[in-house]
Amino acid sequence: MGSATARSLFRGVPSLLSAKNLPRGMPANPQLSMNVPLANWNGEELPLDQVRVSVLDRSFLFGDGVYEVLRVYCGRPFLLAEHFERFRRSLGELRIETDVERLRRRTLATLEHSGVRDGVLYVHVSRGAAPLRTHTFPHPSPTPNELIYVRELERDPYAELHAVGASVITFEDLRWRRCDIKSVNLLGNVLAAQAAAEAGCHEAILIGSDGTITEGSHTSVFGVLEGAVLTAPLAANVLPGITRQLVVQLANRAGIPLREESLREQHLHRLSELFLTGTTVDVLPVTRVDGRPVGDGRPGPVAARLRDAYLHVVAEQCGK
Ligand code: PDD
Repeated sequence: MGSATARSLFRGVPSLLSAKNLPRGMPANPQLSMNVPLANWNGEELPLDQVRVSVLDRSFLFGDGVYEVLRVYCGRPFLLAEHFERFRRSLGELRIETDVERLRRRTLATLEHSGVRDGVLYVHVSRGAAPLRTHTFPHPSPTPNELIYVRELERDPYAELHAVGASVITFEDLRWRRCDIKSVNLLGNVLAAQAAAEAGCHEAILIGSDGTITEGSHTSVFGVLEGAVLTAPLAANVLPGITRQLVVQLANRAGIPLREESLREQHLHRLSELFLTGTTVDVLPVTRVDGRPVGDGRPGPVAARLRDAYLHVVAEQCGK
């Protein structure tokens, strides 16, 4: 997505703020305490901790649902069209029928009512609740259950890490073979992220059975090998990351050589840089893998350039 596209996404929305100087938003809804995000559950707005879901909901019983996570900057959802396009695709792959355009409008209304300026939006659709637990799709089809919530980020949890770089572990990619669908089945990701946390690290990068690096537990992975940036090609074993897509475009625009080609585990000790991209981390340099330094052990220039370019797109969204 180019900056022109970024601008067109937010055309008509008043631009008041610079990305560098975002005020902390106060929830506009007096029902909400500072810490309870505003939710929208099937069209009804209420504090997130008051949402009640049936145990017959299929995302509870089977993980039968899909989700999206979006970043909010300056009170506006970042890369909204791209996230909803991926959402539409995930829903289609699982044959969950819902009105994505209505969901998009509801998401925007919930964000507006929340008053959140700098935060995270979560959108989740399950196949719905059926009277009986059956593996097959219930017949007749239940109405999908739709959850949206928006959470203020009190502070960027990655702020310091951007300066010093993150530490990661490598971990076996235990996931199913349709990781291109953003499903709420996340056990392989959960176990990997937990292993990283227990090792005192920030992320796990996943190694497929053929030795290729697929992605992180909740991020896309990029490495700089012999002067070129490499990242896994889009296939069924990785999520088509929205931030990944933007960063690929930013690299192309900046003339940074980039190939969509898998990195392998044995490349790790030869990389001059390694970095992660994702909605929550934006562009995050990695300085240690399994306790060993990457390159010279400091955040590298390619990740820094791409992060600057990313923040520039954010600043454009914010009207700067
Ligand atoms: N995760 N790969 C995986 C497995 C992910 O779960 C994510 C995002 C990414 C990055 O994608 P994007 O740039 O579209 O955020 C890559 C979200 C943030 C989550 O599960 O919380």
